[in-house]
Amino acid sequence: MSLLLKNGILVTNEEIKKSDIFIEGEKIKTVKENFNPKEIPKGCQIINLEGKYVFPGIIDSHTHYHLKSPKITTADDFYSGSVSAALGGVTTFIDYSDQMEGYSLVEAIINRQEEAKGETVIDFSLHQSIYSLRSGMQEELKELRKNNIINSLKIFTTYKKYGCMLKEEYWEKLFKMARDLKLLITVHAEDDKLIKKIEMSYQNLNNFPPYFHPILRPPETEYSAILKVGNLANLLNMPIYIVHLSSEKGYKAIKEIKKRGGNIFVETAPHYLLLTNDLLKKEKAQKYFMTPPLRERKDNEALWLGIKNKDINVIATDHCSFTIEQKLSENNCLEILAGIPGSETLLPLIYTAGVRGGHFDVKTLVALLSTNPAKIFGLYPQKGSLKPGTDADIVVFDQDKKVTISDLQQHSAANYTPYAGIEVAGYPVMTILRGNIIVKDGIFCGQKGIGKFVKTKESILY
Ligand code: URP
Ligand code: ZN
Ligand code: ZN
Repeated sequence: MSLLLKNGILVTNEEIKKSDIFIEGEKIKTVKENFNPKEIPKGCQIINLEGKYVFPGIIDSHTHYHLKSPKITTADDFYSGSVSAALGGVTTFIDYSDQMEGYSLVEAIINRQEEAKGETVIDFSLHQSIYSLRSGMQEELKELRKNNIINSLKIFTTYKKYGCMLKEEYWEKLFKMARDLKLLITVHAEDDKLIKKIEMSYQNLNNFPPYFHPILRPPETEYSAILKVGNLANLLNMPIYIVHLSSEKGYKAIKEIKKRGGNIFVETAPHYLLLTNDLLKKEKAQKYFMTPPLRERKDNEALWLGIKNKDINVIATDHCSFTIEQKLSENNCLEILAGIPGSETLLPLIYTAGVRGGHFDVKTLVALLSTNPAKIFGLYPQKGSLKPGTDADIVVFDQDKKVTISDLQQHSAANYTPYAGIEVAGYPVMTILRGNIIVKDGIFCGQKGIGKFVKTKESILY
């Protein structure tokens, strides 16, 4: 099976050039201008992409498909989540393996891989979440790293009430373990003690409307948590990665850690760049409810600046979708289900606001959405590049295609999008996963279960 993509404008993090791409089986075989017709094998499918951008497949490096707790499961499972992602040009997602009571981390990873297997339509990798330390963990992590199963861990400095918070007294021990195994620590950074203190100051209130969420979890909580984990990583001479940075104050903490010589890397999400917390005063405000909460216009601007300054390295979605019914079932912000859908809108929104909006060029777009996460999470160059010999994961992007994002036009099982009404100028028109066309002209034509687990190398941050 071979495929020739002709006359596209190839964009990588390094260069933009008019070129053809010849794909044989699952791999990119040749990248060159004016591929000689004599070299085209019989039966090769030829597609003329005249004038369209050709990017390496997008990597959504922060997703929660099929997230389940005893009481609730997300709207998107691995199938619907990955189909919606593919329709947005995403060819790889990185999800989370939960630490499970009574099971080893190796078993937890196998369990999560099994859940995705036979369901996902694009490739995936996993971060391992750590909620508590127990004996034998170092050996389990060693085994997972040795076999290239994971390259990153995730800790939460909040969510004590959900049992996800790793107590501060364990941080140093885990950080040292991770450093010695060259595993990257990634952090959801909000100071739980500070949040609890603020909550307690409203003694006479026990039902907080949605607009209270940013009051209960203000930017100071992000600032404080980033300083704590950043200083510790610095002391231990190791890199650290902050997920979903949301605020100007949080960015200030990043700069302070860097000033002290820290090796700190940062992800933000489209909602923190584009939306503001006045949405939490609207009807059905729950649709815009996630943690950390939406901030203010000045915070959006600080994050755009952080990208420009190369202090923010990755944009990922934190896709964690619930239906409107699930969201609206609570009005108290201590109980509302946190999380929004996002994988499908990642590329068109960030192209429109980031590139067309004049914040950065199209090579930087590729770096933020594909090459940087691939390098940081050990997938490069197999993913995140257009180099011969690597996986033919490609998104064809029509920079002139205008689309108004709407609930109906989206494919997440959430059945709504917080970005409804936004007009994007530029949209993915074809998604190719390992040489297979899985989306064409907005129609999913891939196969359930075709997605594979991808092994990970050591992070370039070590
Ligand atoms: O509200 C969010 N972000 N839900 C998903 C879990 C997390 O904190 O990333
Ligand atoms: Zn989080
Ligand atoms: Zn998350």
